[in-house]
Amino acid sequence: MSIPNEGRFAKPVERRDFLGLAALGSFCLTSAAAILGSLKLPMPSVLPEADSRIKIGPPDRFAPGSATNFPERSLWVHRDGSGIYAISAICTHLGCVTKREKDGSFHCPCHGSKFAADGTVTGGPAPKGLEYLKVSRLPSGELVVDLQKKVPAQERLAV
Ligand code: FES
Repeated sequence: MSIPNEGRFAKPVERRDFLGLAALGSFCLTSAAAILGSLKLPMPSVLPEADSRIKIGPPDRFAPGSATNFPERSLWVHRDGSGIYAISAICTHLGCVTKREKDGSFHCPCHGSKFAADGTVTGGPAPKGLEYLKVSRLPSGELVVDLQKKVPAQERLAV
């Protein structure tokens, strides 16, 4: 007794046909990947960094003798008799955010570094004082702080 050979098994696929189909399938997949890859080329895979300058408002926002906190940027903006200046609240030891005390000094909660009100180190493992950041004025009059531009501690923006 023999089993009927019908339907899709009626004609067996030969090795040569199978290899040809496999080669065609590989070619199609490779071509599709190459086309998709070339379509993605105009789009950058690395996004540019966000602008390091932040607007902090008009000069009259900062009263003489004041210290204004911008906690989302770990920043303190001060105004003294010479002008406006910005101090980063980021500890120079390992980058924790310092806390400003009532007397104006800064204290790092991580390893105990202490900084005077002017940012100089008074204790703990911090290797240097808090950083002063560039404050400038836009043509509109609004002030901006550049979080990546360090300036000497004596620098003030006259207002
Ligand atoms: S991170 Fe501030 S003392 Fe270590």
